Amino acid sequence: MRIQRGTRVVITGASRGIGRALSAELAGRGARLGLIARGKEGLEELAGELPDTPDGPHVTAVADVSKWGQTSRAIDRLAKNLGGIDLLVANAGVLDYAPFLEQELEEAERMVHVNVFGTMYTLRAALPHMLRGPGGHVVVMSSAAGLRSFPWGAVYGATKAFDRGLAEALRHELAGTGISVTTVYPGEYGTTILQHQRDRLPAWRSNDEERPVEELVEAIIAGVEDDARGVYAPPAVRVLGLSGIAPRLTDQILTRVRGRSAAPRCD
Ligand SMILES: NC(=O)c1ccc[n+]([C@@H]2O[C@H](COP(=O)([O-])OP(=O)(O)OC[C@H]3O[C@@H](n4cnc5c(N)ncnc54)[C@H](OP(=O)(O)O)[C@@H]3O)[C@@H](O)[C@H]2O)c1
Repeated sequence: MRIQRGTRVVITGASRGIGRALSAELAGRGARLGLIARGKEGLEELAGELPDTPDGPHVTAVADVSKWGQTSRAIDRLAKNLGGIDLLVANAGVLDYAPFLEQELEEAERMVHVNVFGTMYTLRAALPHMLRGPGGHVVVMSSAAGLRSFPWGAVYGATKAFDRGLAEALRHELAGTGISVTTVYPGEYGTTILQHQRDRLPAWRSNDEERPVEELVEAIIAGVEDDARGVYAPPAVRVLGLSGIAPRLTDQILTRVRGRSAAPRCD
């Protein structure tokens, strides 16, 4: 799908990080955006900064994607205001690293609610609108951790594997409808997702590894325009997909690249 003037986009988690940078790039290409997040201020500030479109203003909707009622109402309203949805970006997500048994149950539940139910609700609410149109594209934000889960990220990795599984099946299920699906597997990009726990990261994960989010945005846009199944950014993330067929080899590679804490058991 070509992203151009008139492309109607709904994006969740638009107010910060990847969602914000992607929104700016899409608006720069002439797309008209429906922006979703929980914080009203961040959304309005973003909408005010985006270049105007000749087709009408960008629209915002405050919603917590982990709540079905809020998500479906927000997406219905945005679809109505935009006159349809051509591109859906299910991006909203949260991350907390901790050893599994030490993690507050509430934190673990929050990741499941936002990353699992939130993605599912977003797609359930938006796809009926998209199926009424001439076709379109869906982007689902998984993670490198959705390919190979890491110590201290057991629940997060599992939620991102859910996102991968959902998107993989839908790409096939939607064959013949004119709607396609791309799954995105980012490595580590500099956003606000870890700002609440910069001082307690797992040993294999350091702030120094973070890459500029603009690089990821460029890869996502190319992935949509080329109808890629998956966007692996940086490209080396693709190696983690080996984990399904050669877990020991993947562990050995990770140990070399990230140290023993990324794969303490190489048996
Ligand atoms: N950054 C990375 O390196 C990285 C790597 C792999 C995958 N990812 C994935 O990329 C996605 C975006 O991450 P990011 O790094 O850009 O995060 P971020 O900087 O923390 O931004 C998250 C965005 O999601 C919104 N959000 C959070 N919870 C929400 C909820 N319940 N309902 C609606 N909106 C919600 C936030 O706004 P409000 O707080 O106002 O709601 C914010 O706009 C996530 O799915 C994440 O798992 C990120």
